[in-house]
Amino acid sequence: MKKKCSQTKNFIFSKNKKMAEDEIVFLPIDKISQQTEDQFLFRFKTTISHDPGQFFQCSLLGIGESAISICSHSENFFELSIRSVGNVTNKLCNLKKGDQIGLRGPYGHGYEMEQFHNKDMVIIGGGSGVAPLRGILEHLSKYREKFGTVEIFFGFRGEKDILFESDFEKWQKKDMSLAFTLSEEHKHPKAKKGFVTNILENLKVTKNKLIFLCGPPIMITNTAKMLLEKGFMKSQIYVSEERQMKCAVGRCGHCMIKGKYCCTDGPVFRYDELY
Ligand SMILES: Cc1cc2nc3c(=O)[nH]c(=O)nc-3n(C[C@H](O)[C@H](O)[C@H](O)COP(=O)(O)OP(=O)(O)OC[C@H]3O[C@@H](n4cnc5c(N)ncnc54)[C@H](O)[C@@H]3O)c2cc1C
Ligand code: FES
Repeated sequence: MKKKCSQTKNFIFSKNKKMAEDEIVFLPIDKISQQTEDQFLFRFKTTISHDPGQFFQCSLLGIGESAISICSHSENFFELSIRSVGNVTNKLCNLKKGDQIGLRGPYGHGYEMEQFHNKDMVIIGGGSGVAPLRGILEHLSKYREKFGTVEIFFGFRGEKDILFESDFEKWQKKDMSLAFTLSEEHKHPKAKKGFVTNILENLKVTKNKLIFLCGPPIMITNTAKMLLEKGFMKSQIYVSEERQMKCAVGRCGHCMIKGKYCCTDGPVFRYDELY
């Protein structure tokens, strides 16, 4: 995969300002909406440039810092979908509109969408792994004519865990097929029961397809195994990896994965780079 030096292009929070590598800016939250019992969508107004799949280090002074993926694609704002799981994210999820969050980034090697023009796109997400993939889907919605077919497969635990359901119809209207599963018993009229792998059985293997996979480690392992057994090549699969970050700029070695830095070489990797 082409190695990108994103660190200068992307440190732009306004048309005039370039950020130093680890500079923090404090931005007020423009909008918050609750997505599930413990997950919230935050919007920040800013003219930042970013690729889907990149992430921010989000901080609260005196509390700490967490890596959060950008889950939108707009020139006027960006959105972060944050799940409350611990010290920092619990506090972030208790903030209100107008409160400020410290942000540095965007960091990392995301999905370079121009590389994928004319390809058939297969988007497979599990649980909160759907969030970074939403950035791809918003890009595809905007530049639909530049890509081939688009097939979306999502898996969630229960009805109350479905993320971005209000976007589903919009994506389908843009000629993208969408199917999703719920692993718990449910009455949702559009969901199938089971894991996301259960709806991949009829996925046709072609050389023009690229697969974008994001979710919990067990879901990535099982889905990648199934795709390879079906006949896809490792070079057709992109995975987004999560490793605990500290510096996020390739200095501390905290996020090392198979000899690569998750923060700067990733978090998006082509499957054959790692496995
Ligand atoms: C590249 C990247 C992108 C990411 N994107 C997103 C995203 O878009 N959205 C998102 O929500 N997250 C995302 N994450 C994950 C997010 O960074 C972590 O969930 C977050 O940093 C956790 O920080 P915390 O301080 O809230 O939790 P911590 O306090 O550090 O807790 C982390 C884990 O430890 C467990 N834990 C905490 N306290 C205890 C305790 N007392 N006893 C036992 N277990 C405990 C928690 O349940 C949790 O599983 C991403 C991570 C990476 C690396
Ligand atoms: S987080 Fe420090 S090297 Fe990646």
